[in-house]
Amino acid sequence: MNAQPGGPASPNLTRLSSWHALEQHAAQMGKAQLRELFAADATRGERMHAEAVGLYVDYSKQRVTDDTLRLLGELAEACGLAEHRAAMFRGDRINTTENRPVLHIALRAPADASIEVDGSNVVPKVHAVLDRMATFSQAVRSGHWKGHTGKRIRNVISIGIGGSDLGPVMAYEALRHYSQRDMSFRFVSNVDGTDFVEATRDLDPAETLFIVCSKTFTTQETLTNAHAARRWCLDGLGGADAEKGGAIAKHFVAVSTNAKGVAEFGIDTEHMYGFWDWVGGRYSMDSAIGLSSMLAIGDEQFRAMLAGFHAMDEHFLNAPLAQNLPVIMGLLAVWNTNFLDASTVAVLPYEQYLKRFPAYLQQLTMESNGKHVTLDGVRVDYNTGPIYWGEPGTNGQHSFYQLIHQGTRLIPCDFIGFHQPLNPLLDTHGQDQHDLLIANLIAQGEALAFGKTAAEVRAEGTAPALVPQRRFEGNRPSTTIFAQRLDPYALGSLVALYEHSVFVQGVIWGIDSFDQWGVELGKALARRTAAQIAASGEAELDHDSSTNALIRLYRQRRTA
Ligand code: F6P
Repeated sequence: MNAQPGGPASPNLTRLSSWHALEQHAAQMGKAQLRELFAADATRGERMHAEAVGLYVDYSKQRVTDDTLRLLGELAEACGLAEHRAAMFRGDRINTTENRPVLHIALRAPADASIEVDGSNVVPKVHAVLDRMATFSQAVRSGHWKGHTGKRIRNVISIGIGGSDLGPVMAYEALRHYSQRDMSFRFVSNVDGTDFVEATRDLDPAETLFIVCSKTFTTQETLTNAHAARRWCLDGLGGADAEKGGAIAKHFVAVSTNAKGVAEFGIDTEHMYGFWDWVGGRYSMDSAIGLSSMLAIGDEQFRAMLAGFHAMDEHFLNAPLAQNLPVIMGLLAVWNTNFLDASTVAVLPYEQYLKRFPAYLQQLTMESNGKHVTLDGVRVDYNTGPIYWGEPGTNGQHSFYQLIHQGTRLIPCDFIGFHQPLNPLLDTHGQDQHDLLIANLIAQGEALAFGKTAAEVRAEGTAPALVPQRRFEGNRPSTTIFAQRLDPYALGSLVALYEHSVFVQGVIWGIDSFDQWGVELGKALARRTAAQIAASGEAELDHDSSTNALIRLYRQRRTA
């Protein structure tokens, strides 16, 4: 019972024979220990890995056997993974609830590729925008682009939220090593005024460029902050005279699919960098939404990042399922979620520059696969997207790893590391601190998988009463991802790995990984509540008694 590519997926996932086979297999595997699996197969650690596009993925410490992977592959086939993948790459309208193609892969396609939407090749349009971005970023980086008073631009503030912020922030932090250091880059997302005030407090408007990033150009937080930026900029540059003199054009550019909204805001659409409705917000960091990244690292490095994305796209499209990194990662996530009952994934980059990667992944994974109905609207009877979270190593080790090692919940971990440091630093013994960092990464995976038995704890001379506390059960799964060095290409391939892994999971679960209706109710209620808060006097409140009481309380006390 294959699902139709781009059409409704099977509402009967749990009735598939491959699903039943996995359930039976999971029941047999229930007691299998990683200790035993490794003991029974001396080659396991060497064998159970896949390598492509510069990424080495070791999944030997997942609680799987060759049979598990074979059965997961059968499930993928039964769910029509290959057909769905082809449908995405072809530009079919696989985002069925919004009736849109899903073509982030076109954002990083080479100039001679052809990907059609409604009979028109979109690749030349993508490259035209990239070329305009390159011209603009070269002008700003070189100092050729001047602000209203003739000063060069030293500060770039990107205003956006969600997919119009998390990708750019993550990429800037990840690639900071390659950034132009005589410029500063900041990001404002929260409608909390503190975000804007703290980002601008020490800056000179004459040297500051704002990029207003919003796919829709209707997002409340972004437009509110963009108006605050406009006031701040004009106040600092001479008010109405500066505005008449064209200051906005020198200090504001926009990235959006909504030219009308951009023009209404007052930004000349000549200074707008566009993208298209077939790019989901959380899949847009490699579109014009990444303009801040290009300003920071330059257009050549930005294109190197796109090449990394594209290489992973090609791998995902062409590699056999058994060696296909996004397929392996996606199927392991399904295994852990649906057959081992894990409800979360910890993402643990052992690379300081990836400190915002877990936050970025949270939107990518949870806005994509946090769905409770299938494409045809049937309530699922299985769990879908797990909760992603994490912190860079080694900081997390001194915080929440206790629970991962000895808590009662199963928390699969993704460890991410690089063989070479970007900032070598020798310790007092002459050893690079990076060795210590990576030693910690490797040690954590080992500790989680193999633990420490009561006999081992006793053999260390531990007092009998403390043996239970000092024992580690082990058998806690992890995947380790290594790349050579964190550079733009590696970042592109890593992000694309997770993008396509999310896609694989969504196909198995039969959900639309590309809509986000779940954010709408809160937005609508907030608009209504804001109007009620602003209304003078005791405007009638018609919420539940708790909500009414909270609004009244806030109204009374906000000026007290
Ligand atoms: O509210 C969720 C969301 O729609 C995200 O999907 C999106 O990335 C974000 O808001 C920002 O939207 P926009 O780019 O249109 O401002």
